[in-house]
Amino acid sequence: MKLNAIILAAGKGTRMRSLNNEISKVGYPLLDEPLVNYVIDSVEDLINGETIVVIGFGGEYTKKIVEKRAKTVWQREQKGTGHAVMQAAPILEKCEGSTFVLSGDVPLLRKESLEAMIAHHKENNADLTILTAKPASNFGYGRIIRDERGFVIKIVEQKDANEKEKLIKEVNAGTYLFNNKKLFEQLKNLNTDNKQGELYLTDTISLFIKQGYKVTAYTLEDSSEMLGTNDRAQLAEAESLMRKRINTKHMLNGVSLEDPQNTYIGPYVEIGQDTYIGAGVHLLGKTKIGINNRITGSTHLENTEVGENNVIISSHIVGAKIGNKNTIGPMARMRGECVIGNGTRIGNFVEFKNVKFADGAKCAHLTYLGDTIVEENANIGCGTITANYDGYNKFVTHIGKNVFVGSGTTIIAPVTIKDGAFIAAGSTINKDVGEDDFAIARERQINKEKYANVIRQRAKDIKDKK
Ligand code: UD1
Ligand code: CA
Repeated sequence: MKLNAIILAAGKGTRMRSLNNEISKVGYPLLDEPLVNYVIDSVEDLINGETIVVIGFGGEYTKKIVEKRAKTVWQREQKGTGHAVMQAAPILEKCEGSTFVLSGDVPLLRKESLEAMIAHHKENNADLTILTAKPASNFGYGRIIRDERGFVIKIVEQKDANEKEKLIKEVNAGTYLFNNKKLFEQLKNLNTDNKQGELYLTDTISLFIKQGYKVTAYTLEDSSEMLGTNDRAQLAEAESLMRKRINTKHMLNGVSLEDPQNTYIGPYVEIGQDTYIGAGVHLLGKTKIGINNRITGSTHLENTEVGENNVIISSHIVGAKIGNKNTIGPMARMRGECVIGNGTRIGNFVEFKNVKFADGAKCAHLTYLGDTIVEENANIGCGTITANYDGYNKFVTHIGKNVFVGSGTTIIAPVTIKDGAFIAAGSTINKDVGEDDFAIARERQINKEKYANVIRQRAKDIKDKK
C-alpha cells in the first residue's frame, strides 16, 4: 500500500500566548527538539510515499526544521485543519494509496500506535480510520459521536458541542488515515458552518458516510499519547511524559539514573551500559555516550561524543569529541570543536574553545585555551591564558609533547612551543620556544632587606594625616 503523510503545522498556537511572531507552535521544544520532529520521527519509517508538512504561521522557522526530511507546502491564511490539508492537493490529489494526517503539535504518539492503526484500517477495509482516545480530561478536544450500533458518525468540536456532547469521554486524537483520492475529493465539500468559521478536517467524516465510504475508529490504549501541546502547561506535561519514556528506555538498557525525574535526555541521545547519570544532568542533541562513564552535577552535554570510563562533573560541553578515561570538571566548559584524547585531566574552571587536547595532557585549574593544539602529556599550569584574539583575528597556539607551562602564563598567539619546552611561571610568551628550551619572560625579583617596616610606616603616616 502506498502511504503518504501530511503533518499540519501552520497554526499560530494562540494559546501559547507568545510575543514572538517568528516561531510556530510546532517549533516549541521538548527536551530541546522541536515538537514537529517527534511527529516526523513517529511516522517516517512507515511512509513509502510523500511526507508533507503544511507550514504557515512562523513558516520559515518550521521550514528550516523540517526541510531535510519532508516537503513543505504553505497555508498562507489559517482557515482550519481541512483547509490546511487542501494545500497538499497539488502534490497528492492524484496519488493512489492512503494518507496519514497528523497534527504537528501531538508529539507523544508512538510509531507502534500508528502501525496498529494501519492494521485496523486494512482489516476493516476502511476509507477513513480515526484515532480516538479517552483521556482523563476531554477539554478542548473534538468529541466522538457514535450511533446506537457504535459506528462513528461525526466529530463535534468543543466550541460547537452542546451540553450532552460535552460529556462524551471519547475524543479525537487528531490523527487520521484516509484513502487518499477520496480525501481530496471530499475536502472540496467542506463548509465553514461552525463557531470558528473554519474548514474542519473532522467534517470529512460525515461527508464520507454520506458517500457510503467506510469510516472506522481505532482507540489508543494509552491516552497520554494523544496529548496536544496547545499551551505551555500541556507542553510541560508532554515533556515530563516524554522524559519518563526516554529515561525508562535507557534504564532498561543498563544505564543508571540517580533521579529519573530530574534527568533530561533528548530523543536522539545514545548511552552505553553501566554509565551513571546523576540528578540534574542534561544530555541533548545528537550526544553519544559510551559505557562506564560517570556524569554528574549540573553537566550539560550537547552534540557531544563521549567514549568510555570518563568522569564528568558539573560541566557545560557543546560539540566536543571526548575519548576514554578522562576526568573533566567541576565547571569545565568546552565550545567550538574540541577534541579530547584519552587519560587527560581538564579541571576546575577551565574553558576550552577549539582545542585539540592529546592523550595524557593536563590542565587542572583556572585556564582559558582558545584555538589551541596541546600535544601528548603536556601540562598546562593553573591560570594559563591564551590571548588568541586581537579584536579582529583569531590566532593559533601550538603546545608540543611534554611541554610544561608554569602557572599564571599568558601566551600571546600565534605561538609555537616545541616538545619538551619549559615555561617559567608568570611568563608572558609571545615568541616561539624551541625543543627542550626554557623560556622565562617576567621582571626579575628585587628583595630589599628590612624595607617592609619603611613601607608600613609610610602608610601609617598617610592614615594619621587624614
Ligand atoms: C484538533 C481537532 C480536534 C482534536 C484535536 C486533537 C479539528 C477541527 N479539530 O483541534 O477534533 O481533538 O485537534 O489534538 O481538526 N493547523 C493548521 N492550519 C490551520 C489550523 C490548524 O495547519 O488552519 C494545524 C495546527 O498547527 C496544529 C493542528 O493543525 O498542528 C491542529 O490544530 P489545532 O488548532 O491545534 O486544533 P485543535 O483545536 O487542537
Ligand atoms: Ca491541537
